[in-house]
Amino acid sequence: MEINQIIAGKYEITEILKSTQNKVIAKCIHQSLRNPWLIKYVNEHENINELEALLELEVYHIPKIIDYYQSAKGTYYVLEYIPGMTMDEFVKSFQINTKTLVHWMLTLGKIIADVHGQGYVHGDIKPENIMIVDEKDLVLIDFGSCFKEIDSESFTFEYVAPERLCDLGVVDDRSDIYSFGLIFREILSKMKIKKKKLVHLVQKCCEVEIEKRPRMVDVIALLNEI
Ligand SMILES: Nc1ncnc2c1ncn2[C@@H]1O[C@H](COP(=O)(O)OP(=O)(O)O)[C@@H](O)[C@H]1O
Ligand SMILES: [Mg+2]
Repeated sequence: MEINQIIAGKYEITEILKSTQNKVIAKCIHQSLRNPWLIKYVNEHENINELEALLELEVYHIPKIIDYYQSAKGTYYVLEYIPGMTMDEFVKSFQINTKTLVHWMLTLGKIIADVHGQGYVHGDIKPENIMIVDEKDLVLIDFGSCFKEIDSESFTFEYVAPERLCDLGVVDDRSDIYSFGLIFREILSKMKIKKKKLVHLVQKCCEVEIEKRPRMVDVIALLNEI
């Protein structure tokens, strides 16, 4: 894909966001409707986990699939474009207070609980895969590592739960809880005022043993008490 190229006779590429050997992510605009969307191209070496999951999942605050097609060269799919910045960009530029932190944890927690409720593990929860819209709204993106029962074995080393690295038996939705905990432990560690209950909850999410971690519905219940 390159700038100004027209894909499927209607999507004009306006900006390349990421390009690797097997995958290209670009901003595009529908030629007649003029909507800005995101287009992803994956070749035959890359899995189409994300497309399959996004077509199946009915969760508010994850990108919706607008269109897709398969060609001899690979698969193209068009997604909602989420305006805003990723969480890692946001926390580098702005100070976060406890109220915002709890709000983010609750909002992201509810999205993840819905994903888990529909049988999926996201598999790559990290600040680069969370879009912040107007400081308050969060959108969880990048379902390329998601799985239902058998681990996709695709993850980011910095945020991955230990059971996905070593042969410790169980891997389930609580593997996402570990990554969720790490994200907020990192933000909390840089904050001056720390609520004890919040620190304790984040620590529970980061337990090395999967059985000791809460499930997301329990995290939400505890957050509502803070
Ligand atoms: N739907 C979207 N709307 C806006 N930006 C997006 C969207 N999806 C991805 N991006 C941007 O592109 C980057 C890479 O996309 P992502 O889906 O995370 O793929 P990868 O598997 O390569 O990390 C994201 O970190 C984000 O900055
Ligand atoms: Mg990503």
